[in-house]
Amino acid sequence: MIKYIGSKRRLVPVLGEICRVAGARRALDLFTGTTRVAQEFKRCGAYVTAVDTARYAEIFAQCYVALDGGAIDEREIAVALDDLAARTPVDGYVTETFCRRARFFQPSNGQRIDAIRDAIERDYRSSWMYPVLLTSLLEAADRVDSTTGVQMAYVKQWAPRSFRPLELRMPALVPGTGAARRADACEVAADLGHFDLAYLDPPYNQHRYFTNYHVWETLVAWDAPAHYGVACKRVDAREPHTKSVFNERRAMPRALAEVIGALDADLVVVSYNNESWVTIADLEGICSARGGMVRTLAFDSRRYVGALIGIHNPDGEKVGKVSHVRNVEYLVCCGQPELVEAVCESKEVSRS
Ligand SMILES: C[S@@+](CC[C@H](N)C(=O)[O-])C[C@H]1O[C@@H](n2cnc3c(N)ncnc32)[C@H](O)[C@@H]1O
Repeated sequence: MIKYIGSKRRLVPVLGEICRVAGARRALDLFTGTTRVAQEFKRCGAYVTAVDTARYAEIFAQCYVALDGGAIDEREIAVALDDLAARTPVDGYVTETFCRRARFFQPSNGQRIDAIRDAIERDYRSSWMYPVLLTSLLEAADRVDSTTGVQMAYVKQWAPRSFRPLELRMPALVPGTGAARRADACEVAADLGHFDLAYLDPPYNQHRYFTNYHVWETLVAWDAPAHYGVACKRVDAREPHTKSVFNERRAMPRALAEVIGALDADLVVVSYNNESWVTIADLEGICSARGGMVRTLAFDSRRYVGALIGIHNPDGEKVGKVSHVRNVEYLVCCGQPELVEAVCESKEVSRS
């Protein structure tokens, strides 16, 4: 799994228990990101719909959510990964843009990324393995990048992991089925159908995923975009269609209320942390407008690891200290009273 701001590693076991206690057969992961939570819902036996605007999130969801890991031939994937790993390195867009102009990867790894990505597009575009191979490449690139976890900057001195050779590994596919959708939550929330459990993990502040993970967007789009700035961000990052309402302080609370209100679900669980623009009371108010019961669970957790390293300017120099390293994660649960009570009073949930 890639390094990802806001990824819910700490909460995955809790959310799995919630899915089990709720007996959810159909589950939604509306801002799926790495698909970590969707995978857990799948492991609990639910048919999962995973939605996100990011191109890479759609690829992860096609790989880990839509594909039935119990019904595929892993040997076929292993052969394809060996084939890709043996490709002759090529000096292409990634090497020039992300290794020389910017320094996200060592050129030796950039050349291999260029060669492998070209080969995936040329030789595997119509194969069922396409999202699996692309996921393997994205995860391999993430293991050898030279960033603090976001792609707005690279570190001044090469990160130690960047010296390791790129290694394609078999993604750990999950048995079961589901659906992957690249879509704006605001546009699709009302039409997604009925869910026993809907989980929402929206952005709550100004940090844009499109720019923080622009290298992954480009590796998936494979469109060699014009770029700007030291981080060589895609020029379309300036266009309105790449922006999320959830990164706009004024518009976000209303958008969140509309999305939560539009969902057809027996139990809605919303992630929240104290680095957000809205207060927990606001969020509980938004949820209570759905009717039913609202209760909030709180979990202490370590902050995202990138923040522990410090605050860096675009040259990778340390310019500030992190204000706090402890963080509380909340899950606001709302819906049918018996379901909300069962979830919030479950010992398994509070112990997870
Ligand atoms: C906090 S992250 C989710 C992390 C995820 N739960 C995980 O564990 O990996 C928020 C996600 O919302 C997505 N996003 C932002 N605006 C969106 C929108 N309008 N509709 C759907 N997804 C959006 C981002 O691409 C990002 O992946």
